[in-house]
Amino acid sequence: MDKFVIYGQKPLIGEVDISGAKNAVLPMMTAALLANGITIIYKVPDLRDTRTMIRLLEIVGAGVEFNDGTLKIDASTVTNLVAPYDLVKTMRASFYVMGPLLGRFGNVKVSMPGGCAWGPRPVDFHLMGMEKLGADVRLDQGYINASGTSLKGAKIKFKYPSVGATGNVVMAAVLAKGTSVIENAAREPDIVQLCEMLNLMGAKISGLGTMTLSIEGVKELKPTEITVIPDRIEAGTFLIAGAVLGDITLNNVKADHLQSLLDKLEECGASINVEEDKIHILKSNEVRPVNVTTNVFPGFPTDLQAQWIALMCNASGKSIITDTVYHDRFSHVPELNRLGADITLHENVATINGGKTLKGAHVMSTDIRASASLILGGLMAEGKTEVSRIYHIDRGYERIENKFSALGAEIHRESE
Ligand code: EPU
Repeated sequence: MDKFVIYGQKPLIGEVDISGAKNAVLPMMTAALLANGITIIYKVPDLRDTRTMIRLLEIVGAGVEFNDGTLKIDASTVTNLVAPYDLVKTMRASFYVMGPLLGRFGNVKVSMPGGCAWGPRPVDFHLMGMEKLGADVRLDQGYINASGTSLKGAKIKFKYPSVGATGNVVMAAVLAKGTSVIENAAREPDIVQLCEMLNLMGAKISGLGTMTLSIEGVKELKPTEITVIPDRIEAGTFLIAGAVLGDITLNNVKADHLQSLLDKLEECGASINVEEDKIHILKSNEVRPVNVTTNVFPGFPTDLQAQWIALMCNASGKSIITDTVYHDRFSHVPELNRLGADITLHENVATINGGKTLKGAHVMSTDIRASASLILGGLMAEGKTEVSRIYHIDRGYERIENKFSALGAEIHRESE
């Protein structure tokens, strides 16, 4: 197992290129299963999660080539409609094969995802959506079996605008007979891009970026070519580092995907300058405490909550961070406290008494964004920090240590 060794408090200066978005590309890869031919996706980040999804596509029978960020998926050879436990347990996004395989082949068997590091993360909305479209959905020996050779358009209203359920149900509905309407749909940029891709493939989806998606079913979809949007969470992680240590320019970013974060960074005192697909951030001399409550897009993303807490440890006063999306996603808190932070947790609310000097220590990461938070903590702390179990970070960030090193950070990957 690898760990990061970080010597903190080095200034970050220069430019960093942001990769394609993990949470956009994963459903796009499964959308390719809807077409009988070769789909090409550009700017695909080389992550453990994209590699896991490639394995899953190969298991169902697709031909996959991945070179230099270009992914070719030949879904003309798909025959095995099963997503096995071994893969689904390592990556919940594997569940995204359900919609497309059910839609195109009328049958699919997907291992039921278990809990994850921060709680139960159910899939009931996904299953409710498939049932509304007319699928017969059963749980058998840990697997969800969904079948329905003639799915029919339906009105589906989610209790909460779930990203995964919206994407999955849209992918099942594009080939259903008649029109489906999804109310309380997710509006995340990842879902907008998925719908844009499906429309390029011949689907008829309207209402993109709103809470109501209307999907007129079509007979078949054809393959397409598309470039993945920039990863707003990777970008946000670098911006948060920049607010304490930096004078950095991010290339390949979309500021309108990051507005809630940019507003909060300015409140903290950082200077932000946006120009086309670049964002420049200059650190604040004194980071002011700024409260944050996570919410669905365009609110402050839960995927940046852990990194924001690391930033607030450096602020000149008390701040309160509330996660309304995932109530238990705080495994980074006790680890940041090991670095000398003063954070208390009550249910889904973290209170940070900022201004304590962070001091390097050995800490352990438990999920992708907690790892990012601990790396930020290490970069901001005095002395040496070791972050163990960094395989989590490799799920969602492309060689994050190389990107930080190029900006002047002292961070090395070592085996434990
Ligand atoms: N929910 C249900 N039932 C469902 C589905 C969701 O109750 O059937 C609840 C969840 O428990 C949660 C809320 O709805 O409280 C939102 O969950 P959502 O379905 O939107 O999350 P997801 O699709 O499972 C994606 C990202 C996550 C990100 C969330 C929220 C991917 C592959 N994953 O998960 O990303 O945190 O949306 O924005 O897109 C990450 O990248 O580190 C990550 C965890």
